Amino acid sequence: MPGMDTADALRSTFIPHSVPFQVSRAEGAYLYTPEGRPVLDAAGGAIVGNIGYGREEVAEAAAQTLREIGYVLPTWVTPQKEALVDRLQRSWLPAGITRASFVSGGSESVDAAVRLARQHHVCAGRPERWKVVGTDLSYHGVTLSGLSVGNHRPRRVGMDPLLYDMPKVPAPYSLEESQGRSEGTFLQKAAEEIERAILEAGPETVAAFIAEPITGSAGGAIVPPPGYWERAAEICRSYGVLLIADEVMTGFGRTGKRFGLEHEGVTPDILVSGKGLTGGYAPGGGVYATEDVVTPLAEAKQDLMFYTFAAHPMVLAVANKVLEIMEREALVERAAKMGARLRERLAELEDHPHVGEVRGRGLMLGVEFVKDRETLERFPTEARFAGKVVASALERGVFFYPAGSGPVHDAVMLGPPFVITEDDIDLMVDTLRAAIDEAAARVASAAV
Ligand SMILES: Cc1ncc(COP(=O)(O)O)c(C=O)c1O
Repeated sequence: MPGMDTADALRSTFIPHSVPFQVSRAEGAYLYTPEGRPVLDAAGGAIVGNIGYGREEVAEAAAQTLREIGYVLPTWVTPQKEALVDRLQRSWLPAGITRASFVSGGSESVDAAVRLARQHHVCAGRPERWKVVGTDLSYHGVTLSGLSVGNHRPRRVGMDPLLYDMPKVPAPYSLEESQGRSEGTFLQKAAEEIERAILEAGPETVAAFIAEPITGSAGGAIVPPPGYWERAAEICRSYGVLLIADEVMTGFGRTGKRFGLEHEGVTPDILVSGKGLTGGYAPGGGVYATEDVVTPLAEAKQDLMFYTFAAHPMVLAVANKVLEIMEREALVERAAKMGARLRERLAELEDHPHVGEVRGRGLMLGVEFVKDRETLERFPTEARFAGKVVASALERGVFFYPAGSGPVHDAVMLGPPFVITEDDIDLMVDTLRAAIDEAAARVASAAV
């Protein structure tokens, strides 16, 4: 910003003591600092930039729409809305999910989904159903409803008095079991916890269960064991509980399929998206639902209250263009192919003394760090090991996304634009190894 000095920039982020990283331009999978230094965005920002940056035709779609329609009431119909709904129904949404409503990001999507689930039951004559079961180790955004149904502990700090105490089930995470260091069967039985939580809460009071197909920022790409989602869906249906899939991070090709739950053969009742819908070019998100979810609202002549900037024509035009590019360039298939290649190269890190696990699907991958690979002892939280890895990698020209909360002390996520090349993959893996080594040396020297 002209005339803005560093002190002003610091104030504008509300963070008094850290110096924000400066980016003045982005193209493909690369960010450029004001000095022209390239940085490979191995995290697509916040796992957002699916199609890569600097696409002229997306900018043109946005500009043209702004010239034509600056704003309309979100419930009205525009050519941009018709085109996007048509494309979503034709090529993207799972069979059976026919309804769409648009918002301005992932947090709003989740908030709208929670309200939709509640309104569904109220309109269907079940006003006693209001609880939304969530998983302990999850991130569903930063609205008070999103924080209530999720649990990313650092992001909830200080907020508890403002939040509803929603029932929680443990996330399907056990490094000890997945790494074969324990004979336990927790992972195998993790889905049964959902039934336990519903019974404990009182099934007649539960409106929905919400979870991420792959736990993103709260867990560093935790993939549930096979059959988890199938069983989760079965349990929810048997108690009349709606299944909400939070596909904000996993949606629109990130995992190598259109949506994360496609890998599981499960269709949710409500699906929420954000990030990849617009690939970062505009603030957008969507809530999608089956006819069965929406029918009671229609019969009661109710609608879901909108946010003023919801379904903005410019955002919808951007989303439509982004999805058109994904289809034309077969980018979902590319995410699967490059994801497999990246996973294969990351396997080289699996015997590193500080790598506990490499996990994920497609181009949504995570690496969890440990102090000791043999015992799986974690670094103390105060060592901020993952933070040091991210800082060292950024110095070396690659940005990884810090992840983890609760028992997952230290993880990074890799979620690059789908347009990355083989050379970019080599750069990511080589830089990650060097950054882990440097972080370990820094932690060791601080301990002396
Ligand atoms: C699974 C999930 N849900 C919801 C959100 C919130 O989305 P937003 O930050 O766009 O509000 C995020 C963001 O990281 C997310 O990963």
